[in-house]
Amino acid sequence: MPDNSTTDPARMEKIVSLCKRKGFVFQSAEIYGGLNGCWDYGPLGAELKRNVKDYWWKRMVRDRDDIVGMDGTILTHHDVLKASGHVDTFSDPMIDCKGCNARHRADQLPEKKGETYCPNCGGRELGEPQEFNLMFSTHMGAVKDDDNIAFLRPETAQTIFTQFKNVCDQTGERVKLPFGIAQIGKAFRNEINPRNFTFRSREFEQMEIEFFCREEDGMRLTDEWLETRLNWYQEIGLPRTKLHVLDVPDGERAHYSKKTYDIEYEFPFGIQELEGVAYRTDYDLGKHSAAVGKDQDYFDEQTKERFIPHVVEPSAGADRAVLAVLCEAYDEETLTNDKGKEEVRTVMRFSPKIAPVKVAILPLLKNKEELVAKAREVEAILRPHMNITFDLTGAIGRRYRRQDEIGTPFCVTIDFDTIGQNEDGTDTGIDTVTLRHRDSMEQERLPIAELLVKILPEIA
Ligand code: GAP
Repeated sequence: MPDNSTTDPARMEKIVSLCKRKGFVFQSAEIYGGLNGCWDYGPLGAELKRNVKDYWWKRMVRDRDDIVGMDGTILTHHDVLKASGHVDTFSDPMIDCKGCNARHRADQLPEKKGETYCPNCGGRELGEPQEFNLMFSTHMGAVKDDDNIAFLRPETAQTIFTQFKNVCDQTGERVKLPFGIAQIGKAFRNEINPRNFTFRSREFEQMEIEFFCREEDGMRLTDEWLETRLNWYQEIGLPRTKLHVLDVPDGERAHYSKKTYDIEYEFPFGIQELEGVAYRTDYDLGKHSAAVGKDQDYFDEQTKERFIPHVVEPSAGADRAVLAVLCEAYDEETLTNDKGKEEVRTVMRFSPKIAPVKVAILPLLKNKEELVAKAREVEAILRPHMNITFDLTGAIGRRYRRQDEIGTPFCVTIDFDTIGQNEDGTDTGIDTVTLRHRDSMEQERLPIAELLVKILPEIA
């Protein structure tokens, strides 16, 4: 599809650089020169990604009574992916440059005057396109022959389909059509051209729901799921104006899909897919039924009918959601400091729900024992409820800026009023702290006893 959005490579570079500098995302095996298409999340990235996944699980599983969870294996039986069509059709067209031997996706080559060329060396002599299967295979056990091939799953969905009967049999009352099975987990694809930071990786995580239904409800539920998922993205801080919906036309959908909406986001490198909401019909359960010679069906207690249900699949990438919130959160603001000089404040405006650190506790002076002890008391009140950090070093303004850069929504400053003392040692008698808000930089004074009730609703 043509992408008419404006791109901003400079902004993207700043985001990638902040991610490394602040410990959100690192290139995998960087000290060995890097493993292409693989990324490690550092301390803040791990918190952020966990929050995104937990929020998905909360809203899609725990808050609903029509979806149950599961956690399947990554190693996948050859026959599962043969039946699903992945062994034969899960491929991209690949092309080799005869000049520099670089390998590219045939459908993503740049064009000049109607002629495609190699993005690596500019050469126009290209080989014939060949299909390249994207699955990673391995051998199970000690013998490396064709009978022992297993795959690293290319989507989490197939474990849901192959356990469909078990889930139905075990969960009794809770699963009546329509109902869903949800899963978060790793998936692997040997992408020909991993690119755009974590956007297209070879190892990534998916957050998928297979929502089983009657055939007559498939199209309607696909539309309903589109709305539910758009709302979820707004809840984690992506504005609706930057979310786009592509109704994928006939001929461009996956082999199993009768209808697909792609939910897209305006990344700095263009409008790109975050999630697919696909009506997969009864394709997968039908294929597995045929392959194993036993219907993977559903029995309706009320009507006494037995049939293979249809399925609507909202399939999101956890890493893409994280990348989108990183891109959305990044902001630079020009401020005038106390001396009248302009300075740039970098601030990650994460929604407090998913911010990696919720509160920074800052004793005004590190060498004033009573201040530090009081700050530790405040820490003990907050830490059981949220991820917090304790920062003693540097001037208070510098400490606020450090927290802005990692997107901490609240800073709590413990000063002389908190410990009931003026700087000259006289008693103020007030047990209060300063609560500083990241986005507005406004500060308010409030009693320690009110901190939790103030902050908890903001981060829920
Ligand atoms: N079960 C359906 C399925 O896997 P998909 O459109 O191929 O459909 C679903 O993938 C989502 O998984 C995508 O919208 C994207 O968010 C994520 N995803 C797919 N390939 C990815 C990759 N190479 N790197 C990161 N995320 C990827």
